[in-house]
Amino acid sequence: MKNIRKKVLLSVMLTLMTVTSQAQNIPVYLDPNQPIEARVKDALSKMTLEEKVALCTAQSKFSSHGVPRLGIPELWMSDGSHGVREEISWDSWTPAGWTNDACTGFPALSCLAATWNPKMAALYGKSIGEEFRYRHKDIMLGPGINIYRTPLNGRNYEYMGEDPYLTSQLVVQYIQNVQNNGVAVCVKHYLLNNQETWRDSVDVQISDRALHEIYLPAWKAAVEKGHAWSIMGSYNKIRGEHGCESQLTLNKILKTDWGFDGAVVSDWGGAHSTMASALGGLDIEMGTWTNGMDKGKTFAYDDYYLGRNYLKALKEGSIPMSNINDKASRILRLIFRTAMNTNRSYGSFGSQEHLNAAREIADEGIVLLKNDNKKRLLPIEAKRYKNILVIGENAIKQLTSGGGAAGLKVSKEISPLSALQTKYGEAIHYTMGYASGPTTYGHVAPSPYSADSLRDEAVKEAQKADLIIYIGGLNKNFRQDCESGDRESLNLPFKQDQLIEALSKVNKNIILTLLSGNAMAMPWKEKIPAIIQGWYLGSEAGNSLVDILSGDVNPSGKLPFTFPVKLADVGAHSFDAESYPGVNYKEIYKEDIFVGYRWNDSKNITALFPFGYGLSYTTFKYGKATFAKNTLTQNGEFKISIPITNTGKIKGKEVVQLYIGEENPSVPRPRKELKGFNKIELAPGETTNITFKITPDMLSFYDDAQQTWRNEPGKFKAYIGSSSTDIKSTIELTFK
Ligand code: GLC
Repeated sequence: MKNIRKKVLLSVMLTLMTVTSQAQNIPVYLDPNQPIEARVKDALSKMTLEEKVALCTAQSKFSSHGVPRLGIPELWMSDGSHGVREEISWDSWTPAGWTNDACTGFPALSCLAATWNPKMAALYGKSIGEEFRYRHKDIMLGPGINIYRTPLNGRNYEYMGEDPYLTSQLVVQYIQNVQNNGVAVCVKHYLLNNQETWRDSVDVQISDRALHEIYLPAWKAAVEKGHAWSIMGSYNKIRGEHGCESQLTLNKILKTDWGFDGAVVSDWGGAHSTMASALGGLDIEMGTWTNGMDKGKTFAYDDYYLGRNYLKALKEGSIPMSNINDKASRILRLIFRTAMNTNRSYGSFGSQEHLNAAREIADEGIVLLKNDNKKRLLPIEAKRYKNILVIGENAIKQLTSGGGAAGLKVSKEISPLSALQTKYGEAIHYTMGYASGPTTYGHVAPSPYSADSLRDEAVKEAQKADLIIYIGGLNKNFRQDCESGDRESLNLPFKQDQLIEALSKVNKNIILTLLSGNAMAMPWKEKIPAIIQGWYLGSEAGNSLVDILSGDVNPSGKLPFTFPVKLADVGAHSFDAESYPGVNYKEIYKEDIFVGYRWNDSKNITALFPFGYGLSYTTFKYGKATFAKNTLTQNGEFKISIPITNTGKIKGKEVVQLYIGEENPSVPRPRKELKGFNKIELAPGETTNITFKITPDMLSFYDDAQQTWRNEPGKFKAYIGSSSTDIKSTIELTFK
């Protein structure tokens, strides 16, 4: 009875509201109770052609036009995937100099990927979305999900690794939880922006199978499962078309095949012609050259490709009106979902809750690569040491700033050195050991220090220390982990290899921590008893690192990309220059579908540290996998279960991974591919049973002859392991 009364009350209220709004003559587009599509249609019917065209262009560095006459607001955007970038000036890259825009620095997305935990992606999206909302930004220019094809790519730190399934599982949670705040994501850079060398002109040639099996799946998930409200077109070309003007990737795949109903935003300056961008799927052209008034008169915003010339082409009829109506509808939909969404919260900014989230994600992403059993340097037992020497510029260098668009002005960044001093007090001493130059963009600035004297000083001090904590790696300088340029070597920069070799000669107790967004060669690996991959960890960096070093947190991160022994072991670098970085701006992805561990498996190459690898301070035992029946039919499903036990003395988290491979495929296929994973926490001695459900789509491949995904009957293997090479149990199954 109570329910019926509630329903009657609700419908009376809704009717009253509708009547009221109509009685008050609120136009449909302004009425938040109206369905979005009705509001879009109504707004479109009230707009002039000039107003529709204006929606498609920037009005400032990070905003696009609204419709002032109708009270439809502008769209405000900001970088980036790791935090809300500081306010930028109206018409230059210069910071606006605000004093209220220092944000929470979240760990880089490569660290999020290393958590292998969709719950962390959800927490990340919620927290960062609240900060964008509080800063009145309607669109977050991120997350980045380009596949890790080469360890030289300067922007790998902004992305989620080499495997499309891992990226898909994480990006969907990230997107949904950002957009729950009424803030749109703008997933980038669509498509095939897998390097920074010649990023605005390289023309990628790629097979249909590599396109559909490796480079598109995460985007498909972002659109079909994440329901991303905007996508950023990339600078590079794909088969001759620019990423912001592509019949294939924008009009066909994104908007037609996947039914994307949001807006495509260009990367800054990514449009190249009126006809190509208008007809090639671009909706909002962002750029960077003018405020349309003073110095920018030569190329004012309405001189943009989707500005005056586009309006002219529409008026002349060389572009149909349906084209602008589609663009304007998409942009209005984006506005109603964000700037005119009256249901959205007010967000929050720089809160302890967000700092705690950043720390939790970082804690889960740090990867323990080596912990020599004899020495067991980790976790650090403070009472064993009187003199702990910290060496390395990354122990003190700010790593939330720099790196290009993802660089942040943060409210705080706890350095590893300060956190170690807080934890271990007087025992901690420091010497820099090596130095990079200042954090620059677009060019390398030399270091003011002498590498030899820094090294000599460190070696001298190391001889007196009980324990050395080395904190090095890469940084956000140009030609390191930085936009608009790639690395020039797989080796550590700034003569760190020489330094590490020298230190290992005078002291065997070295814990080596690498902070980076990329893999690095480790020629000294056998001489170092403990190695940690530490990522860019954000505002709580030092605290997270000490959480792991001290054992307050048991490491549970797993590598989201392969660490190769040498560059020649990488697929992209196993051919000629056409494969990377390209010749005369033409690049061919010759390794095709064999990216990362797929390449290693195909060539039997042993990685330095493999995809999915990461140690714990406890140990896990995998039992034998069991299954009900080992045949799978087209509409069937197949379940595998496996018991996992924590055989150590402390609680820990483990990522149980499922890979599947076809035994004798009719086309070349990877030996195995990640098709499932489950991160679990077990108390000492606790056992749990993990079950994976296998469905036919997990066995399928993209048939380029038929231009569709399909299965073929045959024998498959399901591999369950704690990394892509540490397989604990294998099951044969037949697909009929
Ligand atoms: C840059 C980057 C892109 C960023 C945009 C705005 O060129 O490629 O990731 O969001 O411009 O800063």
